[in-house]
Amino acid sequence: MPDTFTITDNRTGKSVEVPIVDGGISSKGLRELDPAMYVYDPAYMQTAACRSAITFIDGDEGILRYRGYPIEQLAEKSNYLEVAYLLIHGELPSKVQLDKWTFDITHHTFIHESVRKRFLEGFHYDAHPMGMLVSALAALSTFYPDAKDIFNEDSQKKQVLRLIAKIPTLAAACHRFSVGQPFVYPDNTLSFPANFLQMMWKIGDNYEPHPNLVRALDILFILHADHEQNCGSTAMRTIGSSQSDPYSSAAGAAAALYGPLHGGANEAVVRMLTEIETIENVPAFLDAVKGGKGEKLMGFGHRVYKNYDPRAKIIKKTAYDVFEVTGMNPLLDIALKLEEAALSDDYFIKRKLYPNVDFYSGLIYQAMGFPMEMFTVLFAIPRMSGWLAQWLELINDPEQKISRPRQLYVGASERDYVPIEGR
Ligand code: CMC
Repeated sequence: MPDTFTITDNRTGKSVEVPIVDGGISSKGLRELDPAMYVYDPAYMQTAACRSAITFIDGDEGILRYRGYPIEQLAEKSNYLEVAYLLIHGELPSKVQLDKWTFDITHHTFIHESVRKRFLEGFHYDAHPMGMLVSALAALSTFYPDAKDIFNEDSQKKQVLRLIAKIPTLAAACHRFSVGQPFVYPDNTLSFPANFLQMMWKIGDNYEPHPNLVRALDILFILHADHEQNCGSTAMRTIGSSQSDPYSSAAGAAAALYGPLHGGANEAVVRMLTEIETIENVPAFLDAVKGGKGEKLMGFGHRVYKNYDPRAKIIKKTAYDVFEVTGMNPLLDIALKLEEAALSDDYFIKRKLYPNVDFYSGLIYQAMGFPMEMFTVLFAIPRMSGWLAQWLELINDPEQKISRPRQLYVGASERDYVPIEGR
């Protein structure tokens, strides 16, 4: 006997029994009972909009798995490109498959000269690199019209390779432009993270990324690659559901990521720590947060995690490997004090607020020399593989249709137009 859920309409006395499948109930049951009755669920707190086999999160236990593999094992033993393959294809690659995937990604890293010269260089000199990246992703759809053929498997594969491969090149180009330095071409003899670092900072022949920094960036890329139905992935799926090409959908996903409540939080954390200035100011800062006078404690809290974000634990550990090379980030002491104080404070305990992925990542990026404006861009680079995995799952799911939520109308009822002289 399958588990069921009963919905009763007390106005009519009618009931429907809805089977519980995969931990949820279909809205069809409610539709059967009364097609004009909608579930009011702002921010989709209680709505599952898809079935997904990509990422599993248990927010109470602090568990994150990609395709069943614990994030801790992937961060320790894998690398970003292998993880991207896993997210896209559903299984870990064989050696031959990984070599081919790496070769293919490597050979799509170049961006069209016009994207750089005519498009990116048209921005104002102080444009935020994340704004440039969002626009550049959308612009790519005009360079690859074959991407419109979204149900063609060959086209899907090609766009997936292009987007994963080109986003670091675009990201570095946005940075170089914003600091007035010349573009650096990809070096396809390097690993994915090392290539990105050299595109950021190479001047002449004199830049060689430190192996600890390359590995730290690879780990950060793994941790940020996917996180199921977050705001950015939901944007990717919503736009993709109208059968837009993946570049346009990815631009929308990146725009969602840009916000300070989402990927923009890593930048906000460093600004917050800089403003707090000393550990002596931590109690007053927390009092302001609790009193609703100041901002939120950025890098804390999560819609799904009601426990320590497993990514934050790994990032905290990785931070020390980076600081060994770069020297300590002076903001670390303030971050540690804030974490300690918040985790023993009733306000945060009661609301189950713990450090999230963004709390320590900004400190690493800053120590590595990335300007603050690049932090969210650094999040977007690996998240591209997650967005694309979500997009592929969406367009191959026969249950999906164009996303189109309903509303509860609370505006004026019908009234007659009054000409301006009579108002
Ligand atoms: N500082 C202080 N209070 C907080 C915080 C915080 N960081 N986060 C949540 N709260 C309070 C909130 O005010 C509310 O209190 P009350 O019940 O008294 O009204 C309660 O905790 C529940 O919060 P919520 O806003 O209803 O929770 P949500 O699921 O809608 O928001 C969140 C989740 C991540 C947007 C929120 O925790 C937040 O704004 N955090 C700071 C920004 C941040 O670090 N974002 C990165 C998220 S992880 C990476 C990513 O998504 O990109």
